[in-house]
Amino acid sequence: IDAISVITTKRDGGELTDSQIDWVIDRYTHGAGSGASGPDSSGAGSGASGPNRQGAGSGASGPNQHGAGSGASGRVVDEQMSALLMAIFLRGMNRREISRWTQAMIDSGRRMDFSGLRRGGRRLVTVDKHSTGGVGDKITLPLAPLVASFGVAVPQLSGRGLGHTGGTLDKLESIRGWRADISAAEMSEQLERVGAVVCAAGGDLAPADRRLYALRDVTGTVESIPLVASSIMSKKIAEGTGALVLDVKFGSGAFLKAEEQSRELAETMVWLGHAAGVSTTALLTDMNTPLGRTAGNALEVAESVEVLAGGGPADVVELTLALAREMLDAAGLTDADPAQHLADGTAMDTWRAMIAAQGGDPDAPLPRARHTESVQATQSGIVTRLDAMAVGVAAWRLGAGRAVPGEAVQAEAGITLHAKPGDRVTAGDRLFTLHTQTPERLAAARAALATAVGIGDSAPQRRPLVADRV
Ligand code: URA
Repeated sequence: IDAISVITTKRDGGELTDSQIDWVIDRYTHGAGSGASGPDSSGAGSGASGPNRQGAGSGASGPNQHGAGSGASGRVVDEQMSALLMAIFLRGMNRREISRWTQAMIDSGRRMDFSGLRRGGRRLVTVDKHSTGGVGDKITLPLAPLVASFGVAVPQLSGRGLGHTGGTLDKLESIRGWRADISAAEMSEQLERVGAVVCAAGGDLAPADRRLYALRDVTGTVESIPLVASSIMSKKIAEGTGALVLDVKFGSGAFLKAEEQSRELAETMVWLGHAAGVSTTALLTDMNTPLGRTAGNALEVAESVEVLAGGGPADVVELTLALAREMLDAAGLTDADPAQHLADGTAMDTWRAMIAAQGGDPDAPLPRARHTESVQATQSGIVTRLDAMAVGVAAWRLGAGRAVPGEAVQAEAGITLHAKPGDRVTAGDRLFTLHTQTPERLAAARAALATAVGIGDSAPQRRPLVADRV
């Protein structure tokens, strides 16, 4: 096996064999029999070390230096993996190939095991949820403590913002003292005592995905069903959860915009989960409009706390409850009533314990931006459209997201949404409040929002937030 024959097999529309897949993932992640000497050995997958950092293709790290394509002893370099990813993007993979690719990514690192978790002598069931990413998607924050408040263990390995989408870890880091990096032993202890953990995945969980994801991000190969499905499911299966509920987004703010593509993604991931023995279901949810009335880190924490206090925006509450019911069903608690635990403070108690267990002060005031500015409606009528992508990009421009990997985000930055589809506005009413620490960013955010809102004469057709279940 050599890299060039693997690339040309897929380029010409062929099927990759199991051994080609195992070989290419192994040699890309670990190099030729040595994990320490790959082209990314300066910290593969550390977040701050995407392929750009190594100056891929810059002569010093060119393929010739590594004897790429030179037979079984070769390693697979970024240039070759980029070509293979593009071939996969254009040609696709069948179920056998996706399953093997996912398994090879799992085998690139360590698997976690939560099967021994106990509370009061009783074995704890673990259930996790994963969203494919959206704008204003703060659902993990109320959902994890809500489900844990029923005695289910929720090991929520989460990520940071990516492009226009926010990241759960970035949001929680706006709480004073809270830390995402906890050890596997701390994670198990917290799951047994509190029930919910939201933390960063260790570097040894599916390390192939970290490198592949960073490469896809800079080679135009993110939006591929086989690559997204294997990326998400390799991490979730390696994490060792007993059951998994997927929130697969479609619409302008999602990575895959078309509902049919999202359905295929959902079906592929559910199939991969079942094949690995993980009870898996997916909800297809609408991400044409941002969730809730905030996008940005501290702003979204505040909105999540409102939901945990029994209030909050109706769409956030609806999706939190829909996902909670799926998770509780998966744990065998079919009669549990999650709405009751939001109303009576039980979920809030678990939230406070979860934040405190990771060093956070649940009573500390959230940081507020030094600079705010409002954007007004220029005409009167009914809001027909509020584009999630535009809002996500604007929040990102204000400092809620990163321009380069590893950059610090502004906890305070983001957008308050004063009008949502169906609301009536009068010219001059506030549509948005922009929040930032760096006022020079306001113009770019205003530009991103220029065509974000549609105002018309009649109310838009109401589309269900949860479009389907797979
Ligand atoms: N989230 C992931 O973890 N991987 C993808 O490919 C897309 C979203």
